[in-house]
Amino acid sequence: MAIWVRTAYIAVGKKGTCVDDRTKGRLTKDGIRIYEPEDFAGMHRAGELAARILDDIAAMIVPGVSTGEIDAEIERMVKDAEAVSATIGYKGYQHASCISVNHVVCHGIPGEKRLQDGDILNVDVTVIVDGWFGDTSRMYVAGKLSRKAERLIQVTHDALFKGIEAVRPGNTFGDIGHAIQAYVEAQRMSVVRDFCGHGLGRVFHAPPNVLHYGRPGTGAVLEPGMFFTIEPMVNLGRPETKVLADDWTAVTRDKSLSAQFEHSVGVTETGVEIFTLSPAGKFHPTWG
Ligand code: MF3
Ligand code: CO
Ligand code: CO
Repeated sequence: MAIWVRTAYIAVGKKGTCVDDRTKGRLTKDGIRIYEPEDFAGMHRAGELAARILDDIAAMIVPGVSTGEIDAEIERMVKDAEAVSATIGYKGYQHASCISVNHVVCHGIPGEKRLQDGDILNVDVTVIVDGWFGDTSRMYVAGKLSRKAERLIQVTHDALFKGIEAVRPGNTFGDIGHAIQAYVEAQRMSVVRDFCGHGLGRVFHAPPNVLHYGRPGTGAVLEPGMFFTIEPMVNLGRPETKVLADDWTAVTRDKSLSAQFEHSVGVTETGVEIFTLSPAGKFHPTWG
């Protein structure tokens, strides 16, 4: 999402779906829920649906299509799967996806705007399957990808995987943030500070704040059974953002291009499982 780092967590109830209805398991001293080994299967089902939807929209992302048309297709696919969109009705949001074009960092609202040749965009989908949340986003291009946009997208994707590689019991959330920040800044790009990843599971947004920057060894210690997102936003220019008057759309202040990838992951006894891997093995914007 990127949740806005300056707001508190609110588990907004959506009838029968959004509340944290777990009675077993426990919270760490940092308020992070530890899920049970059998809970991974539910997260895989939700994550796989969200990822499959991102696979299936790739073919419709061409110059001339509107972001509203892409969102309508996503909403239809969620319904076809007999799942629930986590974003429709979330804090007043009315769409099944966020679609963030060019200098939009995150939370772009789908609408009438038509994609133009060379536009890059992030599509972020969160679904609820049997009460489990799957949250993932990827980059796409309409038409021809420019060299500088391709570099930005590749660095952002690789930064996410640097973060994922730091996920194992005993490491800290600061280790994840540091791995991402060090990689991105070595490529002379910047990491957005104003939005972060989040715990999820039976709720959409839960502790901790998963920062995409930080110092090694700081922050909460990772334990098996923690479920959270990593979703770095990377800018070609400066890291500062602002939110537009619609109260959702976050843009780069300097209007530079921005990219983001997001996976939902779980900490295992030995490392990490990614819940939102592409069933078709896609991620690259030119793979269609
Ligand atoms: N999917 C976003 C995330 O990664 C959250 C979107 S909230 C919405 O956390 F209301 F804007 F859809
Ligand atoms: Co998220
Ligand atoms: Co998301």
